[in-house]
Amino acid sequence: MTELVDAISRIRQRLPARERATRLGLVPTMGALHAGHASLINRARQECGIVVVSIFVNPLQFDSRADLEGYPHDLEVDLQFCSRMGADIVFAPTAEDMYPEPPACTVDVGRLGEGLCGRFRPGHFQGVATVVMKLLQIVQPGLAYFGEKDAQQLAIIRRLVADFNVPVGIVGVPTIRDGDGLALSSRNRRLSEGDRVLAPALYQALDTVRRDVAAGATDPAAIRARALEEVPQDASVKIEYLELVSPSDLRPVERVAGPVLAAGALWVGGVRLIDNVYCEQERI
Ligand code: PAF
Repeated sequence: MTELVDAISRIRQRLPARERATRLGLVPTMGALHAGHASLINRARQECGIVVVSIFVNPLQFDSRADLEGYPHDLEVDLQFCSRMGADIVFAPTAEDMYPEPPACTVDVGRLGEGLCGRFRPGHFQGVATVVMKLLQIVQPGLAYFGEKDAQQLAIIRRLVADFNVPVGIVGVPTIRDGDGLALSSRNRRLSEGDRVLAPALYQALDTVRRDVAAGATDPAAIRARALEEVPQDASVKIEYLELVSPSDLRPVERVAGPVLAAGALWVGGVRLIDNVYCEQERI
């Protein structure tokens, strides 16, 4: 049975240092849990003695009030989900507990937060890095689990813990997809039936990049143009970006000369979806 802990002061009491030594795994989430989260919890369950799932819709990382207010949440359903997955503790603090006043100190993520999604969501990654830093300080896990779907977030968190010497291992877990390729995301439940049919276009475009790169294409502009042909000409679909970047520092590549990450964001009927696909040239 998963235990619900809803205050920072209580999670500290609940997790004395002795237990931390048995390897504590933290799965940070914003709730609305789905099979993608299940694979994070599963992995943590395999590798850790105690699994804590945090559920906190972090206001600091939303650039629009409407997006924050529209973010799906149902703590009771998520708690049952975590129980089924065998999590030991759900840590679900209130916004007042996490931010008793607006923070004076936040984490500046520098250049890593400027490209890809950062170009369209100013301040987003600063908000993510700040809340992740707080969660790591509060729970003090040995390992923390994040989805590879959010490639830029994962890269920033890896640098965050390296730059601040946070004693935690960061584990990236592969993206889970529906049968038609759509990456699982809490936002998918906001898609209308018609928009759900259009949504896999992002994965199809990224997969076109993968096939092109595997076949030996090297010019990012030409590869990108071919991939964008996969995006339907439909009034409710709008590509925000599709880029080929270096997997290590997420800088755009001028020529494909090794593995690249194809990353993109697509708006479908007012819902913003992101995804990425790792691409490498085939060895002959
Ligand atoms: O990926 C998410 O759900 C969030 O960005 C995270 C890491 C839980 C921080 O709020």
